Amino acid sequence: MKPLEQIYANYTPEDFKVWKLLYNRQIEFIEDKVAVEFLDSLEAVGLSPGHIPNFKEVNTTLSKYTGWQIITVPNLAPGNIFFNHLSNKRFTATCWLRSLDQIDYLEEPDMFHDVFAHTPLLSNTQYTDFFQKIGQRALKILHDPKKVTMLQRLYWFTIEFGLIRSAEETKIYGAGIISSRGEAEYSLSNKPKKIDYDVQKIMNHKFRTDVIQNTYYVIDSFEQLSDSFDKVDELLFS
Ligand SMILES: [Fe+2]
Repeated sequence: MKPLEQIYANYTPEDFKVWKLLYNRQIEFIEDKVAVEFLDSLEAVGLSPGHIPNFKEVNTTLSKYTGWQIITVPNLAPGNIFFNHLSNKRFTATCWLRSLDQIDYLEEPDMFHDVFAHTPLLSNTQYTDFFQKIGQRALKILHDPKKVTMLQRLYWFTIEFGLIRSAEETKIYGAGIISSRGEAEYSLSNKPKKIDYDVQKIMNHKFRTDVIQNTYYVIDSFEQLSDSFDKVDELLFS
């Protein structure tokens, strides 16, 4: 049974081992591949390998930066609930960890994905401004499945699978890539297509959740994300 809320005392020694192993392994692997904003925010939020993040502590820290909060859900939240939380600066996260014998197998997002990969950037104002707008706009178009799909695509190609240009290099910032060894390497290789961030293209781009991506969109800055909402609004509402 997956827990509904985080009861810190319930984490077992195996959970601590799993967190530490995943954290150390992944940070070593992505350190030179990930956006500097992510590394800065990881430090700002205070995540570390020796300590499974305590949501209360994380929220106290986040409230100083952006006012965002992480709240627990046992599984992926349905769209309308998820978007409602986003519009109110709340990110829904699981609080359970995979077991040691399934360390490389992720059936559905666990706390390592949700907290290690998603939470740090919730301390970044421009990133969260964009993220909150996705939720706010979604609430206005929930009755229109086509438009919901357009916003889901925007979420997918940025928050989950976004790349960012940093000096001369391309780096990763999407949480789906950050928590995956295979995709971190692949996304930066010359195998997939990398396209300049373009809201119109993204919102018309079908994606699959069951295969590794063959196309990624590259932003120049997080400011570009929040600025792009003029175009998003045009596509959704005009
Ligand atoms: Fe995610």
